[in-house]
Amino acid sequence: MQTHGSCADSQAAADSPAKAGDTPRRKSLTPIIKAVGNFCNLRCSYCFYSRQDQSRHTVMEAALLETFIRQYFDLFRGPACFVWHGGEPLLAGLEFYELALHLQRTHAAPGQRFENAVQTNATLIDDRWARFFRANHWRVGVSVDGTPEVHDQFRLDRRGTGSSGAVRAGIEVLRRHRVPFGVVLVLTRSAIEHVGKSFRHLTTEIGADHISINCLVDQEGYSCASTACVPSGGLARAVRSCIANWPDRDAERIQLRELDSFVAGALGRRSRACSFNGDCRNYFCLNHDGGIYPCDDMTNRPELRFGDLRLERLESILDGPVRRGILERFEARTGPCTACAWWEVCHNGCPGQRRGGITGTYALCADRKEMFTLTTQMLQRDDQGIANDLEHAL
Ligand SMILES: C[S@@+](CC[C@H](N)C(=O)[O-])C[C@H]1O[C@@H](n2cnc3c(N)ncnc32)[C@H](O)[C@@H]1O
Ligand code: SF4
Ligand code: SF4
Repeated sequence: MQTHGSCADSQAAADSPAKAGDTPRRKSLTPIIKAVGNFCNLRCSYCFYSRQDQSRHTVMEAALLETFIRQYFDLFRGPACFVWHGGEPLLAGLEFYELALHLQRTHAAPGQRFENAVQTNATLIDDRWARFFRANHWRVGVSVDGTPEVHDQFRLDRRGTGSSGAVRAGIEVLRRHRVPFGVVLVLTRSAIEHVGKSFRHLTTEIGADHISINCLVDQEGYSCASTACVPSGGLARAVRSCIANWPDRDAERIQLRELDSFVAGALGRRSRACSFNGDCRNYFCLNHDGGIYPCDDMTNRPELRFGDLRLERLESILDGPVRRGILERFEARTGPCTACAWWEVCHNGCPGQRRGGITGTYALCADRKEMFTLTTQMLQRDDQGIANDLEHAL
């Protein structure tokens, strides 16, 4: 769910040939791998997975991991980024990822660059994990919703206790080992009024440089209580609060994905975030059981399954008619998008967050229009201070 943007660098360079004389190759798609499926040690009350069966500790079998990595590198020779997602990906255990790295090194073409990124709740991070991330240059994304009070409202452990203490402990280990990390903040209705304070907390006390906001909205197969969903205008309000609470010190160190994307849009440039640039065809998600889907939060939707890696080759799944048909529906320009001036920099947002299904209208359509307009005005006024931050953000 919009937490795999950290691989944009690989995407940009993805078409370069691995060695002279190679046949023309396809752009490396970014795989999102759910090594433990939906399995998790926390029970965040807004999470789509907390409501799924959590009784079995599912882990991808080593043979399937090997099949996947071998076929992936047979197919793609450009720079690659593997994104490990969940559930809670660290529940697969460190040895699983050591094996994954070994397989990547074994099967990558000579000179082929690849990297890894992981999205975690951070509660399981200890010195061993931090050493591994640091030594292997893994990109780490941590989920923190803001101040401890805000975070603990929804991000609960199995006993129903807030997880902020355990998350903070994991982050301290990362900091001690000097592992850089970004933060994903899930915005809920009640958190909007505190978001300025949360933003300050994340950028100062937590020490995060890169922050991304995921909004809680109703989506297919998942309904947030209407009291928790972000109402129309809520994201725009939150981004404005972040701007108002931008720390004075080290202001240029901080990046807010949503603001960067709105500014990029106002300037007619491409955002690095998939949900702005209509980038779904550059990703796919491998579930622990071999199922291949468009994205990590769609693995409970059989109607969106591209295929099964235990039964078919990766190449035929990715080139097949099922994927093509689903992507065409993701990319269709319909409804209010048909006449919208912001289409090229919005693309109807994330298909997983469209009202009425994947061809519906993005739940945060009104917020986007408001923010694209606001950032355009700010840039036209050349609002000093903010303009400097925005320039840096690009
Ligand atoms: C499902 S989690 C999986 C990775 C890991 N367990 C974590 O919490 O970071 C991926 C991201 O989705 C966010 N998320 C969970 N439920 C969500 C929802 N209903 N709407 C939007 N984002 C959600 C999480 O906060 C997290 O940042
Ligand atoms: S830690 Fe991540 S996967 Fe687990 S319940 Fe929370 S958001 Fe969901
Ligand atoms: S479905 Fe597409 S827009 Fe949504 S998170 Fe995945 S890649 Fe990004």
